[in-house]
Amino acid sequence: MTVVETRRRSASHDPSPAPANVTPVIVSKNLTVGYKLHRERKKLTALRDINLTINRGEFIVLVGPSGCGKTTFINAISGLVEPWEGSIEVNGQPVVGPGPDRAMVFQDYALMPWRTVESNIRMPFELQKLGLSKEEMDERVRHYIDLVELTGFEKSFPYELSGGMKQRVGIARALVTEPDILLADEPFAAIDAMTREAMQSELERFVAKTGQTVVFITHSIDEAITLGDRIVVVSHRPGQIKEVVDVDLPRPRFDYDVKLLPEYSKLRDHIWHLVKDEALRGAHGEEG
Ligand SMILES: Nc1ncnc2c1ncn2[C@@H]1O[C@H](COP(=O)(O)OP(=O)(O)OP(=O)(O)O)[C@@H](O)[C@H]1O
Ligand SMILES: [Mg+2]
Repeated sequence: MTVVETRRRSASHDPSPAPANVTPVIVSKNLTVGYKLHRERKKLTALRDINLTINRGEFIVLVGPSGCGKTTFINAISGLVEPWEGSIEVNGQPVVGPGPDRAMVFQDYALMPWRTVESNIRMPFELQKLGLSKEEMDERVRHYIDLVELTGFEKSFPYELSGGMKQRVGIARALVTEPDILLADEPFAAIDAMTREAMQSELERFVAKTGQTVVFITHSIDEAITLGDRIVVVSHRPGQIKEVVDVDLPRPRFDYDVKLLPEYSKLRDHIWHLVKDEALRGAHGEEG
């Protein structure tokens, strides 16, 4: 078995000094975020006191029970929600809003219904000036349509697509600008099992090539282990970091059957228990 460790490793727990050869890209310090519930005139704390440093080229996976604040965390990185307390920085600067360095695959697709597949994927080029020629943009759009296997559906509208196809449009739209940071909110949730594996493998290859930093949310522990460098287990709401688990399995993981490694089942078992405990606490109505 020839396996190559292509990604940089990082410290397993925060707060921690970064090893000399890694560059912090996303730094969350004592981050607390929530929402005003206007109808009920109260506030809801979604995430509490999150301390996490994500280094350049790392693939971070967030897992945790529904409603624990995973989407809220990547919304804070993308600048769609503001910290209530603490801070969130990207490349040393406080996040003040969305920017071309970060692209998001939304949990609910967020496609423009009046635009075709091609036009949805092309949209980031209209919002950001990247200095690409028309030919380069056309080539990128074609390339990512092909990558997500939507060739032939370029002129279709979102209402003509299945859930999995819509999700693939959202993925292509996020990748088309080749952003430094990819924020992916359950990007493969609606995709059938075989295409999902193929896309996981493509994503691993893609980020190994581009060196992108990825923050990825999933409810699949298998997906978390096959993709992640570190898995952040978030507690029941208000979400706090329960544990950060290092995944020291060799890459590329899709070149061999990662599930056959003895470490795999140990990791799976460990994470499964952590998530299950939190889901049970939620079901019993305990506050995080
Ligand atoms: N725009 C909003 N306004 C008010 N409350 C919100 C809003 N968005 C999220 N919340 C609340 O914040 C909490 C965390 O939500 P979030 O979407 O971050 O959870 P999640 O971990 O992504 O869940 P899931 O796994 O179901 O997607 C939930 O209780 C949710 O009701
Ligand atoms: Mg979510």
